[in-house]
Amino acid sequence: MKKNKTYSILFSLFVMSLSINSTVIFAQTTVQKSTNTKEITKNKLTEILEKNRTAYTKGKVADYIPELGKMDAKAIAFSVVTEKGKVISVGDTNKKFTIQSISKLIALMIAVNEKGEKNVFDKMGYYGTDKPFNHFANLESGKPLNPLMNAGAILTTSLIEGEGEVGFQKILKMIRYITKNDLIDYSKSVYESEKETGHRNRGMFYIMKNSGLIEANDEEKLNNYFKQCSIEITAEDLAKIGYFFAHQCTRFDGDTTYKNSEISTLVQSQMLIAGMYEYSGEYARRVGLPSKSGVGGGITVAVANEMGIGVFSPSLDTHGNSVAGYQMILDLVNEYHLNLFE
Ligand code: DON
Repeated sequence: MKKNKTYSILFSLFVMSLSINSTVIFAQTTVQKSTNTKEITKNKLTEILEKNRTAYTKGKVADYIPELGKMDAKAIAFSVVTEKGKVISVGDTNKKFTIQSISKLIALMIAVNEKGEKNVFDKMGYYGTDKPFNHFANLESGKPLNPLMNAGAILTTSLIEGEGEVGFQKILKMIRYITKNDLIDYSKSVYESEKETGHRNRGMFYIMKNSGLIEANDEEKLNNYFKQCSIEITAEDLAKIGYFFAHQCTRFDGDTTYKNSEISTLVQSQMLIAGMYEYSGEYARRVGLPSKSGVGGGITVAVANEMGIGVFSPSLDTHGNSVAGYQMILDLVNEYHLNLFE
């Protein structure tokens, strides 16, 4: 009897040790996963920024739009809006630069809200690309590849309802709303410079007018595209835009006026496949997050249901993406295990 009891105690201890072991294994798994949500600190952002401060020397400030060439190549800023909407920014946080192609996300959101996804994508594709952002790809014989390369973006903006400047004003208003910053406006000098030198964009506009994709009597719709690209923002504004799309179009302060998970899913999927143009595939392999760059030197990143990231450094690589901006994103992603596919 005593022997039986001893066996029974030994057996219970064995079972307990098994369950303790499995708890430990489970806990280890949990600890590994929880590095995803390790708190992002200002010190860490500063450390990453300083590591990449001189990376601008490996690229070149865009000058195909002459006004852009005036940017200070050394300017650099890094901003994150955390899951709870807290904004952490380091570097040249007040430095304004033009939003450029990142405005295409907002135009897409507005056009789809007004016309419906089907009507917008009847006129363009969901395709990725191996072509630069200003390529005529597919245009002569068909439809623009996607809404983020210039052709599709010019078409998307032309689909926004309203005469004259109305389409542009809607984009500006939405950017002011998302960033909660009513001081945001566009740079008249960058706009004039874009308009004067944007011959390829003008060419695309007229090809699409010729094929009936764009209905317009004058160039106002094209001018709206030039104006939206000339809107001036900061890295912090970009982090708020990233946060907005990462959170089903909920603003960083929790405002749900435009909450819409269909739109945010659509926009993020386009960011993933075409947001960094012909570099998008390799970028997805390395960073693994929906992102959108602009030739002003900004990149916005959406980490679904978590955070928004905004970076700025005007020196670009050959694809038109910020060199230091990309490196800062990559370092943050590796440090906090943010890659979607990890
Ligand atoms: O249409 C253009 O050429 C510019 N306004 C925008 C291009 C752009 O930002 C491409 N991004 N990397």
